[in-house]
Amino acid sequence: MQTDVLMELKEVTAGYPGHVALKDISFRVKKKEAIAVVGPNGGGKSTLLKVIMGLIEPQRGEVLILGEKPYKNHHLKSKIAYLPQQSTINPHFPALIEDIVQLGLFSELGLLKRPTKAHKERVIASLEKVDLQDMLGEPYEHLSGGQKQRVLIARAIVSKPEIILLDEPTTGLDVFSQESILKVVRELTEEEHLTVIAVTHDQVFLRRWAERVIQIQQQLTFDGLASKFFQRGEE
Ligand SMILES: Nc1ncnc2c1ncn2[C@@H]1O[C@H](COP(=O)(O)OP(=O)(O)OP(=O)(O)O)[C@@H](O)[C@H]1O
Ligand SMILES: [Mg+2]
Repeated sequence: MQTDVLMELKEVTAGYPGHVALKDISFRVKKKEAIAVVGPNGGGKSTLLKVIMGLIEPQRGEVLILGEKPYKNHHLKSKIAYLPQQSTINPHFPALIEDIVQLGLFSELGLLKRPTKAHKERVIASLEKVDLQDMLGEPYEHLSGGQKQRVLIARAIVSKPEIILLDEPTTGLDVFSQESILKVVRELTEEEHLTVIAVTHDQVFLRRWAERVIQIQQQLTFDGLASKFFQRGEE
């Protein structure tokens, strides 16, 4: 495998009991790519991210991340961060924003270890990256939908992953919040040089951020440069 290949899917077929959601999907991801995953509702986009995360094991084929299978290697977990489609955090969760971000350090801290000063500094640095440093000490439930989404991105990046998977990060947000998420995700790819794979239906996000587009409708129906994808004039 070439050294700049971070991830490879080889003829992956996956799904749920009695339902094939993904069929024969193959592609490679290099370091620092900005990839948008598009396709119709029910096309298998969220399933694709779950397969990459190792939450669903392929029925056929394999996923390799840095040459290893995600569902067999727990240490890979710190290299990939995942923001699910619907936030798994109760919007009224009684915690401060820094406590939520600290949850992203769980694989390092476990249940018992107390965070060190260095851990706390990383939490603050993550909140700075999503431009929420002024909100330190605020209860999570006081934030707007867009600010909550930025806290969850901060939680995802605090473990210093190499790959970040975002499932519809701007869906349901107002235009202002969509714009701020776009800015944050752009910085992750352009300044932090992270590999970002984002499922999106958001045309603005797609056109202004994605370099490469992968279209999934159970099978891979497009994989190429975003500019080529737009030339085809379809989503
Ligand atoms: N937990 C599950 N159990 C059974 N079937 C599921 C489950 N989750 C998803 N599916 C089915 O798998 C297919 C792909 O679902 P998936 O959530 O990956 O689609 P999607 O492209 O993310 O759609 P959307 O754009 O609506 O988020 C759909 O037909 C869906 O009904
Ligand atoms: Mg989905």
